Amino acid sequence: MSARLVIATHNPGKLREFQSLLAPLGIEATSAGALGLPEPDETASDFAGNARLKALAAASAAGLPALADDSGFCAAALDGGPGVLSSRYAAGDYPAAFARIIAAARTADEWRAWFTCALCLAQPNGTTQTYIGLAHGRIAQTPRGQDGFGYDPLFIPDGHIQTYAELGHAAKENISHRAAAVAQLMAALHNGAATLTSA
Ligand code: IMP
Repeated sequence: MSARLVIATHNPGKLREFQSLLAPLGIEATSAGALGLPEPDETASDFAGNARLKALAAASAAGLPALADDSGFCAAALDGGPGVLSSRYAAGDYPAAFARIIAAARTADEWRAWFTCALCLAQPNGTTQTYIGLAHGRIAQTPRGQDGFGYDPLFIPDGHIQTYAELGHAAKENISHRAAAVAQLMAALHNGAATLTSA
């Protein structure tokens, strides 16, 4: 029987990326949304704290190991913001958020940006393991591209000239902050430092 895992997200963009990243491991992944699990408030002050809170809530409600990420866009022009407040900063209007960030970037250094992903694996018994993935890059002068979600049209990863939204899903999957965190989880599952056990 394949291992079962709850992906503790209600965000369809993240769910799609996780299912594709975890497919090679033969893990049967169900989303918190599909199980009707409630979405806890993100009350922690950092990515790791929010990821842990979401993973623990889903693992205890489902009686299964649960994986949650808390991620966000960090701009040097906003001293690393909006960061954990990425979703609230955009408030559903991403073009307006992009315009505010672009307007704040003046010096060359202020065009730097990065995505952070904290990934937490929680067991039904309350133990957790957290992995942090980063992707460094810069802000696009004009947001571009149709693929992806959230801040993807604004972010040009280092070594590329296209935004995440132009690069598309398959290319993003090789280089993204979420992929970097998932790679650490996969290494831990392979070498036995992390396991998927039910209650
Ligand atoms: P949360 O982790 O569910 O709190 O949401 C984080 C927010 O950060 C998302 O709603 C997006 O605005 C943004 N975000 C996180 N990861 C990505 C990504 O891979 N691409 C674009 N935006 C992202």
